[in-house]
Amino acid sequence: MIPQITGFSKLSKEEKINWLTTHHFSESEKAKETLLNYWNTDKKLQQLHEEFAENTLSNFYLPFSIAPNFTINNKGYTIPMTIEESSVVAAASNAAKFWNKRGGFKATVINTEKIGQVHFSFAGSLEKLTPFFTAIKPKLLASVNTIEANMKKRGGGVLDISLRDKTNAIPNYFQLHCTFETVDAMGANFINTCLEQFAQVLQEEAFNYALFSDDEKAIEIIMSILSNYVPNCVVRAEVSCPISELPNTDQLSSTAYAEKFVRALTIAEKEPYRAVTHNKGIMNGVDAVVLATGNDFRAIEAGAHAYAAKDGQYSSLTHAYIKHNTLTYYIEIPLAVGTVGGLTSLHPMVKLALQILGNPNAKELMQIIAVAGLAQNFGAVNSLITTGIQKGHMKMHLLNILNQHQATNAEKEQIVKFFAKNTVTHSEVLNQLALIRA
Ligand code: MEV
Repeated sequence: MIPQITGFSKLSKEEKINWLTTHHFSESEKAKETLLNYWNTDKKLQQLHEEFAENTLSNFYLPFSIAPNFTINNKGYTIPMTIEESSVVAAASNAAKFWNKRGGFKATVINTEKIGQVHFSFAGSLEKLTPFFTAIKPKLLASVNTIEANMKKRGGGVLDISLRDKTNAIPNYFQLHCTFETVDAMGANFINTCLEQFAQVLQEEAFNYALFSDDEKAIEIIMSILSNYVPNCVVRAEVSCPISELPNTDQLSSTAYAEKFVRALTIAEKEPYRAVTHNKGIMNGVDAVVLATGNDFRAIEAGAHAYAAKDGQYSSLTHAYIKHNTLTYYIEIPLAVGTVGGLTSLHPMVKLALQILGNPNAKELMQIIAVAGLAQNFGAVNSLITTGIQKGHMKMHLLNILNQHQATNAEKEQIVKFFAKNTVTHSEVLNQLALIRA
């Protein structure tokens, strides 16, 4: 039985490790050694990482990879990707090379509006609330003058505040629906600070509003928080080429390939079971860049999936069509990301990733991430409609299997050579390993 502990966060790192390893491992020294092995020898760097979060005991590695050869809006990029799944980076690189020869990717930021809401209860009618809101709106906006001063200098700030009546959904439920421009910052702290200020002003003004009854004066703030659903912070990335330039094999002509490709995309648009997996593949690319550039992949995930369901049924984030013998293929995805603030100036690998991208602003990063998602989806759908996914995937997964079975470098070399000409399956890898070891 694991004992309860009070004051854990106050313990030193060594004490925390001792508590953990004593109560959770039969071989506590071995567990301790694993944790210590992942400490950085540079003490300052280690401390920096520990201070990102609470109760940090060690570091957790993920591969930091690059996918070269991307052309986006006629500019060359090498895209940094942080992801553990084999074949994702290879698929991105292959897609980059393929579309490079066909004009590259074109990307456009459609809009950049962020959203936050003050959710509150008001024991009165919309008719009473509306003139009150109209009267206090200038005060609400003025109340964040100091908070938004820096943001305004950079071209951002609060865009608007509107009153929303939600009483059809929940009795007495209203919102201040607020929109923001946060320029190169993701803006979560800025938005939440503004919202909490609006909430306070709303409550105070209601309390002093002569035309409200005592019940109406007692507005209850339920919560003030940004929304990760950002349907007006959307980027579109696109590729297109004549059908004659699409893959052409004995089994599948270019025209048949184009038609099969579009059909696969239509299935993802119409069939939620497929759409979820299809979008998961897109997020393989999106999350990898979001993570490498120090952005919040949970926010991006939540927002992307909500957007995929915006028309009432979960659907694909990518689309394709054929017109005048040309295949056009695109992604539209909401991406609230930042290139300043947060981890961007703190995490050395994030700084490096942004440098690799040429220190983009947030709009450019939105374009790059959308392209990574589209490229990833292209890699997946291309494999699915031709060879199937397992061929490439298992080839990349081969080293994982060999590592699981403690293969030596010599064994790895021999087995990789064997599977260059043979299909990788888990059982055949074990078979080959056994043959060598015998
Ligand atoms: C695997 O991580 C992602 C795929 O399943 C995506 C897809 O099916 O489109 C290959």
